[in-house]
Amino acid sequence: MTLPTTLLVLATIALALSGADATLEIVCKAASNNDVGVNYDFCVKELGNHPWAHDTDAWGLAMQAADCGIGNAYRAIEDIEGMLEKPGSDAKAKEALGQCDGLYTGMKYAFANAHDWIKNRNYTAGKEEAEKVITLANLCDDILAKAAVPSPLTERSTYSLQIAIVCSAIITLI
Ligand SMILES: *[C@@H]1O[C@H](CO)[C@@H](O)[C@H](O)[C@H]1NC(C)=O
Repeated sequence: MTLPTTLLVLATIALALSGADATLEIVCKAASNNDVGVNYDFCVKELGNHPWAHDTDAWGLAMQAADCGIGNAYRAIEDIEGMLEKPGSDAKAKEALGQCDGLYTGMKYAFANAHDWIKNRNYTAGKEEAEKVITLANLCDDILAKAAVPSPLTERSTYSLQIAIVCSAIITLI
């Protein structure tokens, strides 16, 4: 490769990369401007965490937010099942965790449905599924609070709520 060609290739790569990052930042910025519930830093960090985040648009990023939500729900279910298997925890706590197990399963499906609706460009239905996640996450938090279980799922719950809000806000931008 001659020097000018090399420079041209490098310049093209740099431009492509900054373009992709710019898309992510522009979409997260617009989503946080539209919806005060959207945490801009969280949006950029979580959606940027995945290689496929780059070189996409609001449509792709909304699906990706749903995928992040599915992954988080899976991990929450694993956490819960680990806790349920531990001997010696009290019956009330176990019952509450069992209910949250079902609610996180519901969140996993709601995020999966949201992904599919977005993919099929039915944004009303996609948004409804993202909003269902918010309801389910709040239900689990309430159940744990009522059972006076020091919530072992705070991070999962916060993540679920935030990524659902990001997903819904990005759908609005499409
Ligand atoms: C989107 O999905 C909803 C829920 O299933 C359905 O009622 C509606 O007709 C769909 N809209 C379009 C445009 O397909």
